[in-house]
Amino acid sequence: MKLFLDTANVEEIREAASLGVIDGVTTNPSLVAKEGRRLEEVAREIADIVDGPISLEVVSLEAPEMIREARRLAAVHPNVVVKIPMIREGLKALHAVAQEGIAVNVTLIFSAAQALLAAKNEAAMVSPFVGRLDDVSSNGMGVVKEIVEVFDNYIFDTEVLVASVRHPLHVIEAAKQGADIATIPYAILEKLLRHPLTEQGLEKFLADWNKQSAALAGSA
Ligand code: G3P
Repeated sequence: MKLFLDTANVEEIREAASLGVIDGVTTNPSLVAKEGRRLEEVAREIADIVDGPISLEVVSLEAPEMIREARRLAAVHPNVVVKIPMIREGLKALHAVAQEGIAVNVTLIFSAAQALLAAKNEAAMVSPFVGRLDDVSSNGMGVVKEIVEVFDNYIFDTEVLVASVRHPLHVIEAAKQGADIATIPYAILEKLLRHPLTEQGLEKFLADWNKQSAALAGSA
């Protein structure tokens, strides 16, 4: 399964990339606004760090403008995947730009029905938001399971990108269900990496080693 970092923070991306486990990056307007920087500038910096898909989102609401924005964003770097929201106008824009060969990540997906429509229009990726579904007492991972099942029944090239990930179990569940990608905030990457027993185990190994080394040095 591929892991993307869900952030527009270049320092986080640099650190995560140095671990070797990051296959791409997703951003959204909220994440870019938080950095207080221009989207294109951030995107170019990310492309210098990560050799993989970088999702950049359109902010228009009408198809003709979305299409213009998508073309502009796609021209920033060959790795750009344009994020388009799952609304009526978004579906029209997807239909137009996918035929031009622009890779699109259809975002704000909350049902298998929405994912099916995006896949029919040749979206490169669909992003079900599992955390936000859980927040309203729906089963986010249940929706991912349905999407994977539906896509497996046909020959869609659309990848399932699990987004709005809130904890490590979302990532493990996504992997168990066969999702292609999980996009995670930097804090979740830290949580995936760490285990208290690893830290305790290492502390004990080194304490034993140092004790024995001191004893050997003393007897020399
Ligand atoms: O990039 C979209 C997504 O991952 C949003 O996550 O935590 O704001 O629901 P969140």
